[in-house]
Amino acid sequence: MIVISILWIFVLSIIITNSTVKSVSRIQNPIVTKPWTLLSRNNARLDRLFKKYHSLLNIEAFKTNHLSNKTIIYSCQSFCGGWGDRLRGIMSAYVLALLANRRFMIDMNYPCEISKVVQPNYINWTHIKYDKSKNRSQLNINTMRSWQTAYRGQISDIIKSKNFVEVWSEYDDISISTNGDYMTPALRNNYMKNRTRQLLGSMPLSHATMQTLFDLLFELLFKPSALVRNRVDSILANVYHRHLLCLHIRVGKNPTNPFDHAFTARVNTTQAMIDFTDDYILNKSLPVIFVTSDSGQAVSDVLQHYPNSSMTIVGPILHIDRFDRRSSTLCDGFIKAIADFYLLGECQTSILSNSGFSSWANRRREHPYQDFYSYNEKLRAIRKN
Ligand SMILES: *[C@@H]1O[C@H](CO)[C@@H](O)[C@H](O)[C@H]1NC(C)=O
Ligand SMILES: *[C@@H]1O[C@H](CO)[C@@H](O)[C@H](O)[C@H]1NC(C)=O
Ligand SMILES: *[C@@H]1O[C@H](CO)[C@@H](O)[C@H](O)[C@H]1NC(C)=O
Ligand SMILES: *[C@@H]1O[C@H](CO)[C@@H](O)[C@H](O)[C@H]1NC(C)=O
Ligand SMILES: *[C@@H]1O[C@H](CO)[C@@H](O)[C@H](O)[C@H]1NC(C)=O
Ligand SMILES: *[C@@H]1O[C@H](CO)[C@@H](O)[C@H](O)[C@H]1NC(C)=O
Ligand SMILES: *[C@@H]1O[C@H](CO)[C@@H](O)[C@H](O)[C@H]1NC(C)=O
Repeated sequence: MIVISILWIFVLSIIITNSTVKSVSRIQNPIVTKPWTLLSRNNARLDRLFKKYHSLLNIEAFKTNHLSNKTIIYSCQSFCGGWGDRLRGIMSAYVLALLANRRFMIDMNYPCEISKVVQPNYINWTHIKYDKSKNRSQLNINTMRSWQTAYRGQISDIIKSKNFVEVWSEYDDISISTNGDYMTPALRNNYMKNRTRQLLGSMPLSHATMQTLFDLLFELLFKPSALVRNRVDSILANVYHRHLLCLHIRVGKNPTNPFDHAFTARVNTTQAMIDFTDDYILNKSLPVIFVTSDSGQAVSDVLQHYPNSSMTIVGPILHIDRFDRRSSTLCDGFIKAIADFYLLGECQTSILSNSGFSSWANRRREHPYQDFYSYNEKLRAIRKN
């Protein structure tokens, strides 16, 4: 790898307060010769995706939001899981809408307005609040884990093996709150054969899963907000043509993420990742190390260990489903989380914890399975995926 510009990043001070990690970095010798922005990276990504899929899928059909009066709405009012869960729910509702020829919308203002972090790209999913006087008939489907198993089973069964377009035809608006993958079964539903074939073109059904199509569907749906782009670009500007190595350290309940589950098997993740990285980077010319974590301690350990070459996105650490509702920095935390998500799609090497968040982020990498490592809780060690 050719090092075109060498930028030394000094982390001058790391202040850890209650739930906030602040790091101030000063950049010496900022010779950035060309923009290396999220926008340019995403444009290149779209070109790649359209090339990859254009002869396989009917991309136009995926890009078309039916301007029908009937809707399918992904709804997230509270307790809808983290970003990984929500992405699963959104993809599910979107594909159900495509199959049913309904207009797709996203209604999410938890913990803060979705438009603060992402905006419609090809599909205009902006939520329209219909006037109550229109007397529209509503079906609310909520299959988050807190709902009864029997009910969740019933919904799964309808999506898998009933003609759900018919079953739900009387409703104007169908609101779906879920973190399940309904996309993969819906595409295999026998009643949906014709419509599925129109969407998939020549792609074999066996390849059409949420996992495989995520890279395309995510970009068709979303573009990052300016607030997210600015955060990501502040890191990317220092990466220009250098090897970017990313650490995602998810340790669960800890002082900066107090309302989350405790994952006791993960307590040594940070040290294991640092040891592995020390060894790994011996062979790489001056990588830039990006770290994100649900633990302020983990972030500061990494920044201190690599004082000249590590970076983090500054901001409150927030689990977007498990937070203190009185906090005044919910939007900032949401913006930081989604900026982290976008940045994790730009790494040449990824060393991740097990989480839906980072596994979806990883699918946005150009080569998702190259230089991809994770912390194995059983072995308590880093392993190649
Ligand atoms: C959609 O609904 C609006 C008002 O409810 C109505 O005026 C319009 O004709 C409907 N459009 C179609 C295509 O059904
Ligand atoms: C998206 O849809 C909303 C609601 O119908 C509309 O107000 C907005 O102008 C649309 N955006 C674009 C870019 O067409
Ligand atoms: C709304 O719809 C219900 C059921 O179709 C009907 O009984 C009711 O009269 C309607 N109300 C209005 C204001 O149209
Ligand atoms: C699917 O398409 C075939 C051939 O065009 C047609 O005969 C059949 O009725 C369609 N099935 C459904 C469920 O629409
Ligand atoms: C973490 O590391 C300490 C010190 O090496 C060790 O005693 C402990 O068992 C480890 N815990 C886990 C869960 O790996
Ligand atoms: C570094 O390169 C040497 C020689 O190619 C190789 O033996 C070693 O396994 C590499 N280390 C890592 C951590 O990749
Ligand atoms: C970081 O850079 C400073 C100044 O260039 C140097 O003195 C120091 O040894 C470097 N530290 C590490 C860990 O590379």
